[in-house]
Amino acid sequence: MTADRRAPSRIVILTGAGVSAESGLGTFRDKDGLWTKYDLEEVATPQGFARNPALVHDFYNARRANLLAAAPNPAHAALARLQRARPGLVTLVTQNVDDLHERAGALEVIHMHGELMRARCAACGHVWDAPEVMAPDDPCPACAAPATRPDVVWFGEYPYHMERIADALARADLFVAIGTSGQVYPAAGFVQEAAMAGARTLELNLEATAARFDAVRTGPASVIVPEWVAELLD
Ligand code: APR
Repeated sequence: MTADRRAPSRIVILTGAGVSAESGLGTFRDKDGLWTKYDLEEVATPQGFARNPALVHDFYNARRANLLAAAPNPAHAALARLQRARPGLVTLVTQNVDDLHERAGALEVIHMHGELMRARCAACGHVWDAPEVMAPDDPCPACAAPATRPDVVWFGEYPYHMERIADALARADLFVAIGTSGQVYPAAGFVQEAAMAGARTLELNLEATAARFDAVRTGPASVIVPEWVAELLD
């Protein structure tokens, strides 16, 4: 027997906050989401950081504390299993700044919105492992400037790794969006980009979003992601 010809060869997966919701990390736009409690202009823009860096650090220090207390859920584990089972064929792109894909065993994760556990110097660009608690005057380990910021991409900033992601989308046979509301660009445009390049598109979410996919499956990520991966691999 040959390998299952229906199995897509190149898969690009885009994850959002919904994949980590069942690990206890808040989503942004759901009822009780982070953006219902915090003003994103104040805590997630360069202008907000310039106005009040201590407030911004407090916000990300709290996110970091939540993350350190959280653990990957079966959705992260299933995606890691898929990436390991198909070496080189599964591009895992996340909008999440958490490290739960890595902790579940994913081999390579493209963090387009940066990483909560990394710090960046706003003066020289040096990046290093974030301490649990950061403060505006923390000196950069490379240039000593007191210009420490979280290495996360804020509104109005350009996401990371866009060229690499565009390459993967152009070559994808299947594009899957998991637990993302599809309201933030450029990630929200990946489904059209992949479809235009000839990929099939699939959405896995608690509820269908407004974006157009060839197929939609609804339910909690911890259930529907392992089911989908099992269908591909077992
Ligand atoms: N399982 C699956 N999907 C879920 C679950 C769950 N248990 N819980 C919530 N969802 C879905 C919601 O239905 C929603 O569509 O996850 C999505 C979360 O949407 P958002 O809160 O908008 O998060 P996301 O799409 O990741 O946000 C994108 O916005 O503020 C920025 O930089 C931030 O990366 C983030 C970006």
